[in-house]
Amino acid sequence: MSARPLIVALDGPAGAGKSTVAKLVAEKAGLALVDTGAIYRTVALLALQQGLSVDDGNALGRIAQTLPARLRFVVEGGHNRVFLDGREPPAPASTLEITATIRSPEVSAAASSVARHPAVRAALLELQRALGRRGKGSVLEGRDIGTVVFPDADVKAFVTASPQERARRRMNELSEKGLAGNESEESVLRDIMARDKQDAERPVAPLKAADDAVVVDTTGKTLQQVTDEILALVKRAREKQ
Ligand code: DC
Repeated sequence: MSARPLIVALDGPAGAGKSTVAKLVAEKAGLALVDTGAIYRTVALLALQQGLSVDDGNALGRIAQTLPARLRFVVEGGHNRVFLDGREPPAPASTLEITATIRSPEVSAAASSVARHPAVRAALLELQRALGRRGKGSVLEGRDIGTVVFPDADVKAFVTASPQERARRRMNELSEKGLAGNESEESVLRDIMARDKQDAERPVAPLKAADDAVVVDTTGKTLQQVTDEILALVKRAREKQ
């Protein structure tokens, strides 16, 4: 078997169950997990904090360029934590944990807007590639991993589900994290559809399945079934390595 890192690209819309599946596949396959949405969410959080317009592509691109030096992912007990400006704990007092903050509905909406800008996407490309190629390889979850970030990925899966099922799952996720606030399944569904539209219609790296991706519709399937389906693809790719 070669020592080349194995790249597993999991793309798809919000709430399709991608994150949970990606985490399980990474764990079971012994690969790192790269949540690329968290990177776009961090750019959005910084933009909101600095009062920048989500339409100012150049300023957002400059923020994105600073992230390789500022962003740290720490996997702890199967839980992905995100830190800004420091090292993982124990760390200097300046370290800021943004794991929960970047999941708020406000940051979610801003992230989709921020992700439209070519300057932002270009600035984050090498960071995603470098994170993906570490160690034995990675499961990268996102929107354009199989089409743009790693067009030669060993496994490409496009994980999707009906909008209603995705809204239900997102609402459960927000409730579990105590972030539901005034949201309802209807408002979450509206947000998801607006975000899908924006992600799918942007001219640069739109949300779409790569021509050679395996489309995995998770509607009505258990987590176990979906995970097994993708692990089978990983096994096949390893045999070819
Ligand atoms: O996967 P997520 O919901 O955390 O992603 C947040 C936003 O970031 C989403 O609206 C689209 C954008 N995104 C992207 O454009 N490309 C990626 N590879 C990952 C996320």
